[in-house]
Amino acid sequence: MPEILDGRVLSKKLNKALKVRVASWPRPPGLAVILVGRDPASEVYVHRKGVVAGRIGFLHRQIDLPSDVSEQELLDVVHGLNQDDAIDGILVQLPLPKHLDSLAVMAAIDPAKDVDGFTAASAGCLAQGRPHLVPCTPKGVMVLLEEAGVALSGKHAVVIGRSNIVGRPMAQLLEQANCTVTVCHSRTQDVEEHVRRADIVVAAVGRPEFVRGDWVKPGAVVIDVGINRLEDGRLVGDVHTAEASEVASAITPVPGGVGPMTIAMLMANTALASAHRQGLDG
Ligand code: GUN
Repeated sequence: MPEILDGRVLSKKLNKALKVRVASWPRPPGLAVILVGRDPASEVYVHRKGVVAGRIGFLHRQIDLPSDVSEQELLDVVHGLNQDDAIDGILVQLPLPKHLDSLAVMAAIDPAKDVDGFTAASAGCLAQGRPHLVPCTPKGVMVLLEEAGVALSGKHAVVIGRSNIVGRPMAQLLEQANCTVTVCHSRTQDVEEHVRRADIVVAAVGRPEFVRGDWVKPGAVVIDVGINRLEDGRLVGDVHTAEASEVASAITPVPGGVGPMTIAMLMANTALASAHRQGLDG
């Protein structure tokens, strides 16, 4: 059986350590989360972020806006939070309703408070190899790999998906850790042939059980970023976990793998932003 890369256990450990660290700060880190509309999955994610932020002693504010909010009204909320000294991190939960331009909304966030790492400034820093606030999910994957002692240098990593939230920054982080990286996407021919050559596979496609066990090289490390609800109510990832577990040396479960790490990294980024804004060394 493969090693299970348990994001629940690791995220709890990291959150606990962060709670201790920020307890002595002049003021707690402040996180504002904006939720537009009532997408059920987004409501669950935003709720979880609030619970964890509260548990580790952060100031936490959730701003709920109606699904028909205008772009200008949303931008005004972001601008207000940019000016608010108690707030160190601003997160706009995605996806936004179709009438809103996500990139324009991201661009309005003060890069110093960009705890999602989605602004052009943050993405540019990462692309240049001087990361500061790094997108939470790929950062969480790197921490999981590091904790498990997975050697990355010289290894072939295959990232499936090229989103700004996961795939693209994930590929950059792996490359900066000296992996040779292949990025597969919706137009890639023969995704499975690429996956067969991977020492590390990161699946972030949003297609239930897309990666099959016979695609996985024996001994590969499999990271499943997906979380998909099937018609029968089951939650599954982008990897067929049972099949892949037959051959992988290590694998993330769904749920309980990457998901909790994303939230832990949001807290870490908020603390990082807060330390900078408070003139602490972090
Ligand atoms: N939607 C899915 N993942 C994320 C994330 O990491 N941040 C935000 N803001 N929205 C998301």
